[in-house]
Amino acid sequence: MTAAVQDKGIEIVPEKSELAEKYPTFSEDIYGEASIAAPYGHYRALRALGPVVYLPAQDVLVVSRYKDVKAALLDHRTFTSGEGIALNGIANAIGRGTMIASDPPIHSTLRGIMGAPLLPKAVAELKSQVATAAQDLVRRLASRGNFDGVADFARYLPVSIVSTLVGLPEAGRENMLDWAAAAFDSLGPENGRFSRAMPKLQQMLDYILHSAGPTDVTPGSWAARIYEAAEAGMIAREQVPALLLDYLAPSLDTTIFATAHLLHQLGCQPEQWRLLKNDRSLIANAIEEVIRFEPALRGFARVTSDAIVIDGTIVPASSRVLLLYASANRDEDKFDDPDVFDVTRADAKDHLGFGKGRHACAGQHLARLEMQCLLEALVEEIAEINVGDPTIQSNNILRGFASLPVEVRRHAA
Ligand code: HEM
Repeated sequence: MTAAVQDKGIEIVPEKSELAEKYPTFSEDIYGEASIAAPYGHYRALRALGPVVYLPAQDVLVVSRYKDVKAALLDHRTFTSGEGIALNGIANAIGRGTMIASDPPIHSTLRGIMGAPLLPKAVAELKSQVATAAQDLVRRLASRGNFDGVADFARYLPVSIVSTLVGLPEAGRENMLDWAAAAFDSLGPENGRFSRAMPKLQQMLDYILHSAGPTDVTPGSWAARIYEAAEAGMIAREQVPALLLDYLAPSLDTTIFATAHLLHQLGCQPEQWRLLKNDRSLIANAIEEVIRFEPALRGFARVTSDAIVIDGTIVPASSRVLLLYASANRDEDKFDDPDVFDVTRADAKDHLGFGKGRHACAGQHLARLEMQCLLEALVEEIAEINVGDPTIQSNNILRGFASLPVEVRRHAA
């Protein structure tokens, strides 16, 4: 039994070397370029090593099996977010005050304010606007025949519609994709990607602090609602910048990457595309399946508030634990043939690609709507999709493509 379990209250976090002695160790760097390009073999190895594994490169414990990741996400009292969900102290300090890095009761208040425009009913009201934009886009791209699946296709709705809903001034928007990617890079370990991200993150924070004041944001937008909540005394005025960050960072690349993964899979697997063409009721499941199969977000950390036993292995209080949603989604103990993309998979929606529990993705209904509208438009307009080799966009937290060559053939007139 660990000192932390024997001596509750005198929390002793084991030294780096002690962790290596107590837990199976995985010495590959899962944040290295090779793993970012092809992570699933490493995730399989992590699951095989045990319920809790030590990563010496990051000096952190990792949980990678489906049932353990899910249980941890549902136990927000033990697996807390309030000390930050990043793998480094700098990002955890910057993220203080954000919703994603908070615990109840503060989290519940913030989620009530921030989550309101993202609830299913509010999102459903956007359906015709998003559907029209998706149809116009697909028709334009279909008449071109060749396009980039990321720049021309996947980015369109998040950049044109979601940025407008957030409501920050146009002036900084052209930098938003770069800044959002940097915000995710900053949440990983302190590696090269982290260092390259920091100046961009600083620019993003400067923009939020100096160019996104209450009179700069679009009236009626999500950003305006946060300022209204501060005016009404529901939150402190000083909390506003952190909450703007909560909207800005996750609303773009996540959906962009998931959308490009979907197009890629359908291009690589014509029989899956044909299934969707023949039965449109499979579209919603295809979206769940791509979030399971290629999760845009690999995982975030928690800090244990108390000692906890995970499948027979004790993790002491005050441990930073990385929860690998992307590995859980490929767990062979949960999903049959987990490495197969199958739009008819019955339990695809059980994935953890949007997280689970209190911090489950606030934007998931919007992300689903965007992808649904694009897929409906594709099925309507396009007969055949061919894709070339994608270029990976290297990021500490996100998995996605920088580019994806696509060629489509429309239905004969
Ligand atoms: C396919 C697209 C997306 C994926 C894969 C994704 C994934 C996730 C995941 C895994 C979490 C859980 C974080 C945790 O456990 O700590 C999360 C949280 C969050 N996401 Fe998303 N997301 C997507 C799209 C969006 C969009 C479009 C928005 C906003 C419009 C958004 C806003 C948020 C927010 C605000 C949180 C924090 C929720 C909280 O802490 O209560 N996400 N997302």
